[in-house]
Amino acid sequence: MLEGGAGTGLATRALVALGAHVVGFDLSAPMLEHASRNAAGAYTVLADGNHLPFADGCADLCCFAQSWHWLDPLDAVPEVARVLRADGAWAAWWSHPRADGTAWFDQYQRLLEHSTSYDRRQRDIDWSRDVAASRRFGPPRRIDVAWRREVALDVWMRDERSKSYIGLLEPHARDALLTSLEAHLRLAFPGGTLTVPYETWLWIAKCRTNKIGPLRT
Ligand SMILES: C[S@@+](CC[C@H](N)C(=O)[O-])C[C@H]1O[C@@H](n2cnc3c(N)ncnc32)[C@H](O)[C@@H]1O
Repeated sequence: MLEGGAGTGLATRALVALGAHVVGFDLSAPMLEHASRNAAGAYTVLADGNHLPFADGCADLCCFAQSWHWLDPLDAVPEVARVLRADGAWAAWWSHPRADGTAWFDQYQRLLEHSTSYDRRQRDIDWSRDVAASRRFGPPRRIDVAWRREVALDVWMRDERSKSYIGLLEPHARDALLTSLEAHLRLAFPGGTLTVPYETWLWIAKCRTNKIGPLRT
């Protein structure tokens, strides 16, 4: 199987542990170095998911953990269909915090939305839309998994600092926002460990044919 946007190999390692023969690919060589270390047993290839360096019909599954949205569907959908076997499948999944209606969470989201381009409705984007529209795949199915993430406050804040919509702020605005986010979380979780409801949305679609021409005209 192929795994696109393997990054540091988090999903790659889990797939190998399940017994899959995984070829992980990513645009970023430094990321792939991490993936090679973290996911012993997987092959890693430096590759752009929009222009795959793999043979036609070579894979039974091509999946994307938290990475499908980085690709250009006009190129990536036909490429994935091309490298899949006739009965192969595309899959993509995306995990996001979802505790709407809970006071601390709603206030946290409002702080982010007020100061950055973040919009919680982005969590509801249908990642299978372009796959379904391409006619190369059968109807996508979505599977939702609810879970809870226990995470130390400093780890959560480190993750927040790496978000592009926060990194793009002017330094003083970024620092002010991070300070108020952290203060808000310290009040909500005085013990220093957050318990955050998450949902993982996974889409899967079976390949119908790879004989249709390019989507881009
Ligand atoms: C959010 S990370 C996800 C990493 C990993 N799959 C995980 O779940 O932790 C997205 C990854 O997609 C990669 N990426 C972005 N555009 C890409 C492209 N066009 N082709 C292949 N990988 C790409 C990035 O380099 C990054 O490693």
